[in-house]
Amino acid sequence: MILPLLIAPLLAGPLVLAAGPSSCRVDKFPYPKVFGTRLLDLKVTEVHQYAPWPYGLGSLIAEERPINFCNVTLTYTHPGWNDAVNVYVWLPLEEKDWNGRFLGTGGGGWAAGFEGGNAPAVGMGYAAAMTDAGHGSLDAGVSAAVISDWLLHEPGSVNLPLLYDFAYVALDDMTKIAKRTIEAFYGKKPDYSYWSGCSTGGRQGMVQAQRFPENYDGVLSVAPAMNWATFVLSEIWGQIVMNELGVHPPTCEFHAITEAAIESCDELDGIKDGLVSAHGQCKFDPQTLEAVTVAKEVWRGPHNEAGDQEWFGLPHEASPHISELGPFGGMLETECPPTAPTDGKKCAGRPFIMTTSYLRALLAKDQSFDVNSLTRDSFFRFLRQSRQEQLSVMDTADPDLSAFKAAGGKLLHWHGVADQLIPVNGSANYFSRVEALDPEVRDFYRYFDVPGIQHCDGGPGLFPATALDSLVDWVENGKAPDSIEGVAGNVKRPICPWPLVAAYKGGDADKAESFECKEDFGAFGFPKVKGGSYLKDEL
Ligand SMILES: *[C@@H]1O[C@H](CO)[C@@H](O)[C@H](O)[C@H]1NC(C)=O
Ligand SMILES: *[C@@H]1O[C@H](CO)[C@@H](O)[C@H](O)[C@H]1NC(C)=O
Repeated sequence: MILPLLIAPLLAGPLVLAAGPSSCRVDKFPYPKVFGTRLLDLKVTEVHQYAPWPYGLGSLIAEERPINFCNVTLTYTHPGWNDAVNVYVWLPLEEKDWNGRFLGTGGGGWAAGFEGGNAPAVGMGYAAAMTDAGHGSLDAGVSAAVISDWLLHEPGSVNLPLLYDFAYVALDDMTKIAKRTIEAFYGKKPDYSYWSGCSTGGRQGMVQAQRFPENYDGVLSVAPAMNWATFVLSEIWGQIVMNELGVHPPTCEFHAITEAAIESCDELDGIKDGLVSAHGQCKFDPQTLEAVTVAKEVWRGPHNEAGDQEWFGLPHEASPHISELGPFGGMLETECPPTAPTDGKKCAGRPFIMTTSYLRALLAKDQSFDVNSLTRDSFFRFLRQSRQEQLSVMDTADPDLSAFKAAGGKLLHWHGVADQLIPVNGSANYFSRVEALDPEVRDFYRYFDVPGIQHCDGGPGLFPATALDSLVDWVENGKAPDSIEGVAGNVKRPICPWPLVAAYKGGDADKAESFECKEDFGAFGFPKVKGGSYLKDEL
């Protein structure tokens, strides 16, 4: 019996050891058995010379070039849930183009994944995977980020399976499915597994570290939408203030105020460069102009009449960029009819679309709910409901990372200080809460405040384009990042692990050596926030 078994493979055809185009076939991919799932469909096609790459939020930067990959699409359901989730695994077609690693890529807004995430990953040599979490995201690309119809079956009835898929269930599935698909194709498991994503993608990275600590060796989480139950609703705070005042100042007024704030705080780090490095030290306090009341409220963040802070506001340098969100609204976005007088009295607010859609679908549970009718009272009622219903679903800020640490995982987290949508302080706040449980947190988790970078990318700051490489170096060579590199054209600068900031030492301001990470930057401390129930009085 032994002999036929040995020669059987020889009879089946020439023995091909190297993986290659010939193995990108449906019969190469037995359905990976993943607990709680059932396969509906499997499609395998070769994709050649794929370019240009769609935009996918800026946590991954790779030089664009046409890529060749085996496109494996697995569709599965959770029996009884009536869902159909697509996982897209992209495998560099030639084994020589594969760096031996797996990269899970995330989405943005309500999209669980983007082709624009997988493409740069494959371009960098990774086998990549993303999921649509069962509600589609691939075709519509980034605009899928704002489509939220799928959240409700009908008024009052949330599509809970799809909500759970989006919150975390599909993120575990995609990882397990992808790893087995990679093994089927290349005949070996990936040497290392990584996650990369910004915004929702950043939250998804936190989901992996918090809920599925063995899935990834390294997680790159950028501007994570993690304090979901609190921050998404809080983004409407400035709009409520404007509605109460009956004045919606034009966006240019907010620009003027913010430019003045940057001007007055710019030199705190020792160099005048249009960037505020130590935003905690920026104590700009304008007294004039009507828009000031609103701007101050947005900087302060939501608070009740007794002055208790519910969440963080935006740093001063964040607000000028609100108008650049175009059709999606924003924290201070307003809209005036063409003939309106310039006093802002005939204008209306245009809250950020994620807040609007969350409020409508998951809180009011009615897509026709008028978000501009919100008052302080109804805001606080919705906030309480949001925490009651979503702290264990969409919120992703459990500070206990002990299982991730024990599994050897490394977490690199950065957040742009000029983020106009997710207040940057929520990120450092999470890091502090992890540190409160584990003083040795820096052994496996480092957080970086990145001056001048807006939500995911853009803005006047220096972009940490090689953050993923720093993470890989940490995981594979044990080299913990004492700083990450910020780049803008030929200018380089260190970005320091929070709470350190890059201070100018002197010399050529375009060179990284002219800066050092410094601690003694003045008094420091968070305002107390209530946040979710996890937060209690921890800070
Ligand atoms: C990959 O395959 C799926 C399923 O056939 C298809 O929908 C998708 O467009 C393909 N992706 C690319 C980049 O060709
Ligand atoms: C953000 O945190 C800094 C400390 O890093 C603090 O000084 C500042 O007041 C906080 N800003 C807001 C808006 O809460």
